[in-house]
Amino acid sequence: MNKLPYFPKNTIGIFDSGVGGLSVLREIRNQIPDSPLIYFGDQIHVPYGPRELEEVYSLSKVITQFLLGLGAGIIVVACNTASAAALYPLREEFPDIPFVGMEPAVKPAAEKTNTGNVGVLATPATFQGKLYNSVVERFAKNVKIYQNTCSGLVQEIEKGNFTGVKTRHILENALYPMLENKIDSVVLGCTHYPFVIPLIKEIVGPEVAVIDPAPAVAKQTMRILSNVDDSGTDRNQNHITLLTSGSIKEFQTFIDMIEINNYKIHQVKWSQNRSEINIVHEK
Ligand code: DGL
Repeated sequence: MNKLPYFPKNTIGIFDSGVGGLSVLREIRNQIPDSPLIYFGDQIHVPYGPRELEEVYSLSKVITQFLLGLGAGIIVVACNTASAAALYPLREEFPDIPFVGMEPAVKPAAEKTNTGNVGVLATPATFQGKLYNSVVERFAKNVKIYQNTCSGLVQEIEKGNFTGVKTRHILENALYPMLENKIDSVVLGCTHYPFVIPLIKEIVGPEVAVIDPAPAVAKQTMRILSNVDDSGTDRNQNHITLLTSGSIKEFQTFIDMIEINNYKIHQVKWSQNRSEINIVHEK
């Protein structure tokens, strides 16, 4: 049987619609090497971006309950879409749990821009959410923002297509009009997109900054974790438990393309009415 390890109080629970949040997990592992990590990729429901915010919220709530049930002491919503749909209500629903969420890094881009033009790549749900609109309202009033939802890109990245024709086509279509409008930074407002940073850089050239919020999110996680009472926990446990609601084989193929060590993959299954998640034990 495929047994899960013990999760002490300093365990960080991280989730995304699929593999995107692994770009955040990588940074968390770099900055916080001594906490166990549980990662949930909801690949059976990817993409979240075109779904209604209400649906993404209910998926996020069940995933959060599941991660807390396993023993996570802090939850990182490593998905801009889920953060847009669920971060505020989850904080209300679980007032004792520290949450870290994603928001498109419009603030640093607006502070640094010389041309006054900034590009943002994110999902339709993220652009609709209150979180994004409040960030733009507060920090980017005097900046012109060019948005694109890169339709289909999340699915290509899920397949591990980081450089192929389709991925390039989607990115060129999104970025060329922005370049014509003299953007000098591109904000990655979806956690899947850091996996195609080399291609984005190739398209936009060296003059345009590509902003990935993952390092800042990992830093924030570290800060919040330092307030979690984890007395009595063994600091040497740094295993990574990767959970997918999709196919283990496809998930493994993706993991092999990126740098993650010391992990075990398990499959999970949603109940039919989507109110519960269970670990699938291997026979
Ligand atoms: N990685 C996600 C995000 O940051 C979700 C993408 C999707 O599932 O559409 O928005």
